[in-house]
Amino acid sequence: MLILGINMFHADASAAIVQDGEVVFAIAEERLNRVKHYAGFPALAVKACLDAVGASIIDVDHVAVGQDTDANLAEKVEYALANPAKILNFIRLRRRKEAMRDVRSLLAEALDIDAKQLHFREHHVEHHIAHIASAYYCSPWDKAASFSYDGSGDFVSTMMARCEGNEIEILERVFLPHSLGSFYTMICEFIGYKKYGDEGKVMGLAPYGKDTYCEQVRAIVGLKNGGFQLDLSYFKPLGSNQGMQLLPDGTVRMARHFSDRMVKLFGEPNETHAEITRRDMDLAYAMQDRFEEAFFHLLDRLHQRVSIENLAMAGGCALNSVANGKVFSHTPFRSTWIQPAAGDEGLAIGAALYTYHSVLKQPRCYIMKNSYLGPEFSDSRIECDLKKANLSFRKLEREPLLEAVAEKIATGNVLGWFQGRMEWGPRALGNRSILAHPGLSKMKDILNARIKHREWFRPFAPSIVAERQSEYFDHDHPSPFMLHVYKIRPERRAQLCAVNHVDNTGRLQTVSRDENPLYYDLIRAFERNTGIPIVLNTSFNENEPIVCAPAEAIDCFKRTLMDALAIGPFLVLKNEN
Ligand SMILES: [Fe+2]
Repeated sequence: MLILGINMFHADASAAIVQDGEVVFAIAEERLNRVKHYAGFPALAVKACLDAVGASIIDVDHVAVGQDTDANLAEKVEYALANPAKILNFIRLRRRKEAMRDVRSLLAEALDIDAKQLHFREHHVEHHIAHIASAYYCSPWDKAASFSYDGSGDFVSTMMARCEGNEIEILERVFLPHSLGSFYTMICEFIGYKKYGDEGKVMGLAPYGKDTYCEQVRAIVGLKNGGFQLDLSYFKPLGSNQGMQLLPDGTVRMARHFSDRMVKLFGEPNETHAEITRRDMDLAYAMQDRFEEAFFHLLDRLHQRVSIENLAMAGGCALNSVANGKVFSHTPFRSTWIQPAAGDEGLAIGAALYTYHSVLKQPRCYIMKNSYLGPEFSDSRIECDLKKANLSFRKLEREPLLEAVAEKIATGNVLGWFQGRMEWGPRALGNRSILAHPGLSKMKDILNARIKHREWFRPFAPSIVAERQSEYFDHDHPSPFMLHVYKIRPERRAQLCAVNHVDNTGRLQTVSRDENPLYYDLIRAFERNTGIPIVLNTSFNENEPIVCAPAEAIDCFKRTLMDALAIGPFLVLKNEN
């Protein structure tokens, strides 16, 4: 049975293909059309999914979309009636969404096929149910508490569920305009980070701040009886577009979230990416602090209702790895499984798996053991692309390649590492990564000056071989998808200075040999050179979506000051080109 999952006309449009219950291939459209956070129809991703299983759209039995415009209609109408100025906008939006709902026509057009030939059944899965399914149905558990939170989706910002076997029982929904995602976005915008997806950047700023504004910011998010309510006087009224607008070119424009009350309290807002001041750092600190308090408050409530130690999570806010790292010490949960594509690209997998298990009642048979669900490229294709780029290179066997790469990194070089299938989700996890020595004090500045050009306050992340985690970090719960931040042990901080953030933490990826043998063996080879079982790992890109195909990696290598590129079995050196 083939199920095609889709996230469309929503940020991070994507597609996934599920064959007899197993996620075989999944990819966000941005990786193929190179438009970051693309929010149109994922035509290229759908084609890539079908190619991966050698099928045509005619062979697909079910198509599942992670959006249901009919969901929570009563709450939408209630909100519109209470805000008469918005009624016309709501009607307009609903009409536009109707046209976007016609999956059959959209697929027929994208794949140039007669719609009459398509025999699939169509399913629309509510946004947060799809998020929850993307976590629970990929986890190894047959019983879990599940939590999803983000800006908004289908008029909901937060969902709690009890998951057991093939059942996802929804326990609670928090409706708009109350949203922890909107709260976070609002303050990020205020301090000049206004693009969709900028929230993750500001998370790195928070530890530079102090508790100057914690009391004031606490007042924005009220916590009571296991729930939360925003003080809406700090926000612009919710428009027809739930805080963002999809532009015709598929990009997303954020609407202004903050009201004049924020300006009265905290002064003038920043222009885009203005210089960061003490005020901004302290606001970021207070924002992260209140976000975490609200998150733990909600998780306590969830645990009261589902008294189990396993927590399955998704939704864009579940990418807050700082909050995730504190779950074990601040809530009763002892184990997390977080969907690597916790943001909205994950809806494609969630909608498909929800259809398979919850709608069609098919038994559980799949665990997502790694995130390598994207395309891979043959050695001959890579070689051909290297020759086209006029690069000189050497082809090496596995062991000599690992030794050469480890030696390059150990001696302070910055190396592009392109291997196997591309990662699913926003993190590069050792297949489309740029690697460097984690213990060289200048490495952060070198990476930023030469390639990444990121804000000074954003840390770089470490990849560590899984069994050595507790020697270096203060927590041993694994973090295979780089979604937890833990303290680095005091005696290891100097050794990891390039990945040690200002608060002595690191957003680690634990690498086990089962999940990625080549990357694991590379880190081991690096350890033989340096005594450190850790490499610095940042995504393979330069202000663009992470590279997907060899030509994009080669192009990034050529236009930046990267020292070396290991692409498949080929090693390319800048000083030989
Ligand atoms: Fe979402």
